[in-house]
Amino acid sequence: MNYIYNQGSNPDKPVLLLLHGTGGSEFDLLPLAERIDPEASVLSVRGNVNENGMVRYFKRLRPGVFDEKDLVERTKELYEFLDEAAEEHAFDRRNIVAIGYSNGANIAGSLLFHYADAFKGAILHHPMVPIHGLTLPALSHSSVLITAGENDPICPPEESEELYTLLQEAGAETAIHWENNGHQLSATEIEAARKWYTDHSFLATD
Ligand code: MLT
Repeated sequence: MNYIYNQGSNPDKPVLLLLHGTGGSEFDLLPLAERIDPEASVLSVRGNVNENGMVRYFKRLRPGVFDEKDLVERTKELYEFLDEAAEEHAFDRRNIVAIGYSNGANIAGSLLFHYADAFKGAILHHPMVPIHGLTLPALSHSSVLITAGENDPICPPEESEELYTLLQEAGAETAIHWENNGHQLSATEIEAARKWYTDHSFLATD
């Protein structure tokens, strides 16, 4: 996979895994990582799927309807890549906090839906339920923040609420933050993510 790895100044901090939105790139969320934790290492991965020139992490049949077979395969591919990256760059695989926006939040959600040990923490900006009808693994070791738009036309609020419930029922410590700026990733929501991360001292410190 194509990615950027920037070694942080504090090796005890989590590695921030950055997952961009549809049509984005591995460069998009770098300023966001800097805002969340300037001392943390950053692993920013570019999606492997090309949809009419727009990069994504998995295929979709049409907007909002996912190709579930592809989603499952790409989820596994990314999971395995994280193991390899941890070895290659000598970081603790168990110490990853994912930060995803839109399509990136959806593949991060899919990793949580498929693997108990995918992430220590995850910040999901404008996510949907990645896949329905799955029995989720026990997620008692993960903390998740969802940020969602009350008026988001792409990731409707009911989806975010359902995702919140499913993650909570699986044992994840889950929080939700609401915005009113459509599908946009707004400054106030990034600030909410920074506060959530900082308040979770087990994520922000050693
Ligand atoms: C998706 O396809 O993951 C969602 O519809 C969000 C997006 O447009 O990327």
